[in-house]
Amino acid sequence: CGIVGYIGEKEAQPILLEGLSKLEYRGYDSAGVAIFNGEWIRVEKSKGRLVDLEGKLKSAGLSGNVGIGHTRWATHGKPSDQNSHPHTDEQSQFAVVHNGIIENYLELKEELIGKGYTFTSETDTEVIAKLLADLNDGDLVSTVQKAVARLHGAYALGVLSVKEPGRLVAVRYASPLVIGLGNGENFIASDIPAILKHTRDVYILEDGEMAILEKDRVQLMKIDGTPVERDTLRVTWDLDKAEKSGYEHFMLKEIYEQPKAIQDTMASRISQEQVDLSQEISLSSQVIQQIDKVQFVACGTAYHAGLVGKYVFEDLTRIPVEVDIASEYRYRNPIITERTLVIVISQSGETADTLAALREAKKAGATVLAITNVVGSSVAREADQVLITWAGPEIAVASTKAYTSQLIAIYLLGTYFAQMRGTCTVEDAKQIVSELTRLPQRVEAILEQSAKIKDFAAQIVNHEHLFFLGRGLDYAVALEGSLKLKEISYIHSEAYAAGELKHGTLALIEEGIPVISLATQRAVYEKMVSNIQEVKARGAYLLGLTVEGDQELQKSVDAVLHLPETLDILSPVLAVVPLQLVAYYACVARGFDVDKPRNLAKSVTVE
Ligand code: G6P
Repeated sequence: CGIVGYIGEKEAQPILLEGLSKLEYRGYDSAGVAIFNGEWIRVEKSKGRLVDLEGKLKSAGLSGNVGIGHTRWATHGKPSDQNSHPHTDEQSQFAVVHNGIIENYLELKEELIGKGYTFTSETDTEVIAKLLADLNDGDLVSTVQKAVARLHGAYALGVLSVKEPGRLVAVRYASPLVIGLGNGENFIASDIPAILKHTRDVYILEDGEMAILEKDRVQLMKIDGTPVERDTLRVTWDLDKAEKSGYEHFMLKEIYEQPKAIQDTMASRISQEQVDLSQEISLSSQVIQQIDKVQFVACGTAYHAGLVGKYVFEDLTRIPVEVDIASEYRYRNPIITERTLVIVISQSGETADTLAALREAKKAGATVLAITNVVGSSVAREADQVLITWAGPEIAVASTKAYTSQLIAIYLLGTYFAQMRGTCTVEDAKQIVSELTRLPQRVEAILEQSAKIKDFAAQIVNHEHLFFLGRGLDYAVALEGSLKLKEISYIHSEAYAAGELKHGTLALIEEGIPVISLATQRAVYEKMVSNIQEVKARGAYLLGLTVEGDQELQKSVDAVLHLPETLDILSPVLAVVPLQLVAYYACVARGFDVDKPRNLAKSVTVE
């Protein structure tokens, strides 16, 4: 989510809206503003994009020189007008915008309901507004301090009180917040781009700190009131970069966000070294045991996650699995019974083909489970069961962190089902869980090799055709690596199951053609090396990916990259990362638009 706040002499509304437009990358399922005109606080909010809010404000704008605004990426409660921020107490004495998650909100909510407060949203944030009203001692700062003392979790807050027209209070705990210092005006924001048009002098709040903003003054203190002295930071970079947190492109930022996305997707789903999805998936162990077929259905990168899903599910659960491209599935009259589980995978949750496939499957009597990155999306709403990937908003058209998070969701689901069906031992599940939790640090270790991967990419940029080879799970990853490269660098590439090459495509291998070979799967390692020899003998230029400790592959290839060790079944999460970076560096070297490749869109809502 994104927060912005203003206090000064100008009209707050346009400043807030402009600021929010710079924060839309942080979420864009709803937006709202609260504006204080010195007498009362008025709130306008709307589900949907910022333009929807702007539309509402066009006819009846809000006037006032103090305000807070919010753009939301739904976590607690679906995107709706009610769940949009700002939230207020019943008398609109306080207005709050919040970024983060209040972990003890249910407990607080019950307590407040017991005291007679009524709630109009499903959010954790509304609890803060009601808590402020409950603890109100007539002073905004001490009331906020008392309320914050009751909160557990992560929060960046902006708070207004109708009793104090000259003040705006901001608090930070484990969720970013900056204070912008202007001339006769001051700002708060989740991220610098939102206020960069107005000021380059900022304070970065640290965890456990708060700021009291007046139009001519900003006071920093710890939440307990201890004053804090801080030097202002002069922002020297430009707006375009800032939105990308200093990264050249969104895609690169998102590649680097993968350790966190993986971590967040696992968090709270692992307990006592076992996978526990019982809070989210309401399928009884009996229903899970009766499933006799799984169909993964998706498009693009999400389809490639489904291909990994087949290996993982068949291996762990012993349920037969089919994988389908959604636009094929919906028209192919698939065999579905009530014992069929259809797992649709969609980052956006809005892909028309995937949604149509979901509806077909439901109509035919299947149970449909959705793996999606967007709470409240169409796919999430219509599926019987939902498992959210917590990758955060993905902006670049070429999907990266959404894919690796989808893989994590698949591992969690596969292991959970296997535990229920008794197809893996407690010890096996423990081992998978323990290796899963190590993946973030292992992805970090790959990202640290980016210079080497860039050199890898330099070897292919002047070619118009190349191949990716792999066996087993490496083949599924090869397909995704090949798609990444095609999408953004426009180099034509084909991914082949390495053993299949000799049945036709080997005819295309000629002197100097780059072949990227994945050899991370121990069970087929020797076979893979033989296939590498076959293309090498025909003059291919070979780039090889293998696992740490393997000293053999480098004898057969021209350049090698070693991945950290993990279970074979988990290796796609690691193996895909260098391939994403190869595509990225190749695209940059060829001078194309990384984040918005030609002809493609992030979310395709037409058939
Ligand atoms: C579009 C995007 C792809 C994405 C596919 C499926 O084609 O360009 O990157 O993989 O849609 O999107 P979804 O949101 O359903 O995962």
